[in-house]
Amino acid sequence: MKLILALCALVALSECLRVPLIKGKTVREKMKEKGLWEKFRKTFPYNPTVKFVQDGTESLTNDADLSYYGEISIGTPAQTFTVIFDTGSSNLWVPSVSCSDEACQNHNKFNPADSSTFQNASEALSIAYGTGSMTGYLAYDTVTVGGISIQNQIFGLSETEAAFMASMTADGILGLAYQSIASDDATPVFDNMESQGLVSEDVFSVYLSSDEEEGSVVIFGEIDSSYYTGDIYWIPLSSETYYQITMDSVTINGETVACSGGCQAIIDTGTSLIVGPSSAISNINSVVGATTDEYGDAIVSCSSIQSMPSVTFTLNDYTFTIPASSYVSETSGSCITGFSGSSDSLWILGDVFIRNYYTIFNRENNSVGLAQLA
Ligand SMILES: *[C@@H]1O[C@H](CO)[C@@H](O)[C@H](O)[C@H]1NC(C)=O
Ligand SMILES: *[C@@H]1O[C@H](CO)[C@@H](O)[C@H](O)[C@H]1NC(C)=O
Repeated sequence: MKLILALCALVALSECLRVPLIKGKTVREKMKEKGLWEKFRKTFPYNPTVKFVQDGTESLTNDADLSYYGEISIGTPAQTFTVIFDTGSSNLWVPSVSCSDEACQNHNKFNPADSSTFQNASEALSIAYGTGSMTGYLAYDTVTVGGISIQNQIFGLSETEAAFMASMTADGILGLAYQSIASDDATPVFDNMESQGLVSEDVFSVYLSSDEEEGSVVIFGEIDSSYYTGDIYWIPLSSETYYQITMDSVTINGETVACSGGCQAIIDTGTSLIVGPSSAISNINSVVGATTDEYGDAIVSCSSIQSMPSVTFTLNDYTFTIPASSYVSETSGSCITGFSGSSDSLWILGDVFIRNYYTIFNRENNSVGLAQLA
């Protein structure tokens, strides 16, 4: 650890322990461009919380709106992959050379035979998605994230992948949530960073820029004061599974529009929208002036963004207010809100929320910190 930190200090500390993220096109955007979206949505109705359905084989991210990804490497010598840094799941997996599905054709694939540090765990892995599944096996190897090499990291290698993954920009997923929800109880990457003494503080933080190419970052082991201004507002976790917290209410112009009396929410970098129970979300969408189309997208006129109200989320008595310019997005000329309904009672504060704050995941005292962007 000392050696790594010393080397980083020589190179420039800011280059170490952090991974720049790129905001890529989502499956939704890619399919819309190709004119395939309506057909896809008819076949697979929107169900963003499907990743949270626990059925023994943990369900992960199926969301058509995953977008922020960064680079990691696995093996000796290093093989490079792009992965979604997902605080809503806990496993790391990438495609393997034994996968011949369409989704594996246009992604980087790990070749165990090319890595001298590879060890097979010889344990099957299966992750169910709303639109199909990923199956494969677990293995151990050196995984390098943000310049830090983690020894003997357990990770998944896919042998089959669902067709929709062909439209995913990233090769795989790196889960940053707790081991308690990891498939096959695999030790997550951040837990190994801690136990191998690779991070000086038991925290990681995320800044998601609206800029497609620049600025977004995951920082491991420190809170970087250059990303925020004012106080950090700490919210204790209500469950150490996802980064789950208690939300007090959702209000618009001082009126409660959802989550009256409190509700549970998770802070999830791996979901792009703000998701809540259907009736609550319909209420928010109708108060902001959106109409829901047959695919469940909440449409607004792009020209009315300036007159739409802000939406306020109260967490641990602190208020976090998201303006319309931030919760409405434009894709191929049409505007949709970032509020999406699901059949689950759990709320997901995804990228639409996280983009507004420097977000700290504090594992030392199991809390999430939110601070105003610098
Ligand atoms: C690792 O083990 C799994 C399950 O036992 C097997 O299917 C796979 O082919 C093995 N991979 C290598 C590279 O040996
Ligand atoms: C967690 O730690 C931070 C930073 O040390 C501290 O300011 C905060 O009050 C703590 N939060 C909780 C919920 O204990």
